[in-house]
Amino acid sequence: MNVAPDRYEMRNLTRIDEVSKILDILLSNILDPTLKRDAFVHLYGAGQVATILYLKRGHTREECEIACIAAMLHDLCKYLCPDSMYDGHAHKCAVYAKEMVLDRIDVLNDEEKTAIFNAIERHDRKFEVDTPLDEVVKDADVFQRFLRRPMDDCFYRKSRVQAIIEELR
Ligand SMILES: [Fe+2]
Repeated sequence: MNVAPDRYEMRNLTRIDEVSKILDILLSNILDPTLKRDAFVHLYGAGQVATILYLKRGHTREECEIACIAAMLHDLCKYLCPDSMYDGHAHKCAVYAKEMVLDRIDVLNDEEKTAIFNAIERHDRKFEVDTPLDEVVKDADVFQRFLRRPMDDCFYRKSRVQAIIEELR
């Protein structure tokens, strides 16, 4: 019997695969199916949005990978510890991402881990301008929500979403 080759047989594993290994295990523990779907869609979706925006802004593929990882982890705590939200949630998300993911992988150096931690910690400062990495994570957060429901005015009206739409035109 012929065995179909693995579609991904030829691809090389990257640092995102290392992050995904842990992220998928954590998210798979979410019991509520709607919350679990939202978590996968928002976190992986924000990662992809961060990549495309960072590419458009002139960054290298390697820098895009860091932006993608930061966006993939930016709301992890929100989905896994929903009771801890709304009071300093970005800081809690940064600490959670560090303890549950960043401290458990050896494919990122300390400088990269700090930059990712800071981007997660600052992601709710939507009306302030921080580093390019911080900004792309904030943008990925709001734009992923717009992309999921482009006819929902709630996200379309946000100034960051309007700015990104212009940037991509
Ligand atoms: Fe988010």
